[in-house]
Amino acid sequence: MNPEEAQHKIKLLTEQLNAHNHRYYVLASPSISDFDFDQMLRELEELESLFPEFSSPNSPTKRVGGDITKKFETVIHEYPMLSLSNTYSREEIVEWVGRLEKFGLENLSLVCELKYDGVAVGLRYEKGALVRAVTRGDGEKGEDITSNVRTIRSVSLQLTNDFPEKFEIRGEIFMPIAAFKELNEQRASDGEEPFANPRNTAAGTLKLQDSSLVAKRGLDTFLYGVYQEKGAFHDHMEAIRAAGSWGFKIPPESLGYINVVHDIDGVMDFINYWDQHRYDLPFEIDGIVIKVNAYEDQKRIGFTSKSPRWATAFKFKTQQAESTLLSIDYQVGRTGSITPVANLSPVSLGGTTVRRASLHNEDQILKLDLHISDTVLVEKGGEIIPKIVGVNRVKRSHGAQPIVFIENCPECGAKLLREEGLSNHFCPNASACPPQVAGRLIHFVSRKAMNIEGLGDETINVLVKENMLKFPCDFYTLNRSELLRVDRMAEKSVNKLLAAIDESKNIPFERVLFALGIRHVGETVAKRITQHTGSLAKLMQFTKEELLEIEEIGDKIADSILHFFRDDENKMWIEKLIDVGLQFESKGKDKDSDVLSGLTLVVSGVFDAYSRDEIKELIERNGGKNSGSVSSKTDFLVAGEGMGPAKLKKAKDLGVKILNELEFQKLIGNEK
Ligand code: IVH
Repeated sequence: MNPEEAQHKIKLLTEQLNAHNHRYYVLASPSISDFDFDQMLRELEELESLFPEFSSPNSPTKRVGGDITKKFETVIHEYPMLSLSNTYSREEIVEWVGRLEKFGLENLSLVCELKYDGVAVGLRYEKGALVRAVTRGDGEKGEDITSNVRTIRSVSLQLTNDFPEKFEIRGEIFMPIAAFKELNEQRASDGEEPFANPRNTAAGTLKLQDSSLVAKRGLDTFLYGVYQEKGAFHDHMEAIRAAGSWGFKIPPESLGYINVVHDIDGVMDFINYWDQHRYDLPFEIDGIVIKVNAYEDQKRIGFTSKSPRWATAFKFKTQQAESTLLSIDYQVGRTGSITPVANLSPVSLGGTTVRRASLHNEDQILKLDLHISDTVLVEKGGEIIPKIVGVNRVKRSHGAQPIVFIENCPECGAKLLREEGLSNHFCPNASACPPQVAGRLIHFVSRKAMNIEGLGDETINVLVKENMLKFPCDFYTLNRSELLRVDRMAEKSVNKLLAAIDESKNIPFERVLFALGIRHVGETVAKRITQHTGSLAKLMQFTKEELLEIEEIGDKIADSILHFFRDDENKMWIEKLIDVGLQFESKGKDKDSDVLSGLTLVVSGVFDAYSRDEIKELIERNGGKNSGSVSSKTDFLVAGEGMGPAKLKKAKDLGVKILNELEFQKLIGNEK
């Protein structure tokens, strides 16, 4: 393909992918399959790598992230980002509307909106392209989080029709409850502490340095305000509807997320409806925002120093209720981690009956000083089940017994352990503790691991009970006639399942490594290990020091890996997986060049355009060898920011040539 054809094709694919992305994430009505979308995306990726001169920062391929932001630059807001006055009192809302009438508005027209509980962001567009995304900060100046915001699928990178030449649009970035739950489930299964709530998680996510991690967190957005020099609109609602037509995700009127009302009764109806139904929403809100609709009226009513007088927020009280603590169940997760769950006397909270509440770990039980039969305060948040936030000690009966955390696994009786510095207890009996055996197998076949379709949790539990499955290697010896004998397995589904199992032999090493289910080794860590070691054989020989050299690996993960590979039983079933033919080596990527052939390089510090592991990968792709420490055999030290002074001194003393990132890129002919 010649450059002209490539440029044309890149433009076409970009437009098509943007349109499909918009249909999927903004309008929720996709018109092509995920598979076809991925094919097109891959084609665009390939063309962009062959013709990088035609790749744009707003290309749909950038949705997966990859940019590293070491420092979020400060940006002064063109229009200050004000906050809203707020109240918990309905009377004050009545008074606020009453005061508006004094301004002599001809016809009262108010827009009621949901108050999304996330992070405010200002997005600047020029010629329809997103050029900058900035946090609210102190209202005067915020931080540039453009790279991270680009990965949020519902933020349009390129607008479609009739948009103004230059403008800013503001809205809220939030984490939908489903994404929050999935993230916390993932964290629990990786043996990580759960995040506290969707809002803090969204805020923390937007400040991650690696945008490819942001891309995986499922953030979403609603836009709520258009700002431009000479606006063509008469009122706020008109501007919001127009923003929808340009390609932004705006709150749907059809679902009642936004509504124009003309009197206080209309405002109260909106407030009361959402106070009742807020927990039916797929995201969290903490109140309702009411805005004067007409821009002329807004101007007339004006601002205080901190917030507009033409808008206010009614905040919902966090719903709390008292209940009695009946008992505590201890659940055992896939990696053996123990989660205590409180059983409560049924109590009505936010429209549902609550019977259970999460407690996370022993520390939380101690912090709350929980006793059996305590009267506890439960609160509903974005979590699967509500949480206990306090104890009413006045109501504690005399002689009530404090809760003592269990010492043995409730499933298999093994003595529980608690790793130093961690808050979770875990059951070490991985090979025989039933939920761990089934959990390991369920994880192994899951979509992000070996992606073996046709095996639900139920079927796996049955196969475990029938002694057909115990270790992951057993999937590969399942046979047709045995499977047919198992409940509900028809010929067709058995055939499909066996084909899927066979197909999984092609799954690349990084996912196989993730599938092994090593505590604390999630998807990202597995990827880093793969980049660094290249094969299981190498990984299994690594010492703790060598493991610690891998980016994102600290003591906890290193110990867990060493512990996993020391176990004879683990070694036995992994040996069998090797025999079956799973991928335990990363497919050697094509070499870029031999310019570093025969040279040994040490990489240290933090870089702008690449992560440390990416630099190491580049070294290998260009024929060089990586080493962890500087010695007389070192040819180059690739030095990033913040590298240890001792290493630097040693390199200087030994006369090792020191390269900065740019010099390294020049050396391998890869200026990014
Ligand atoms: S309008 C000048 N509308 O609430 C008025 N804000 O203190 C600008 N928020 O952090 C805000 N939902 O991010 C507006 N529908 C909505 C909102 C909303 C949530 C947040 C906003 C800000 C806070 C206001």
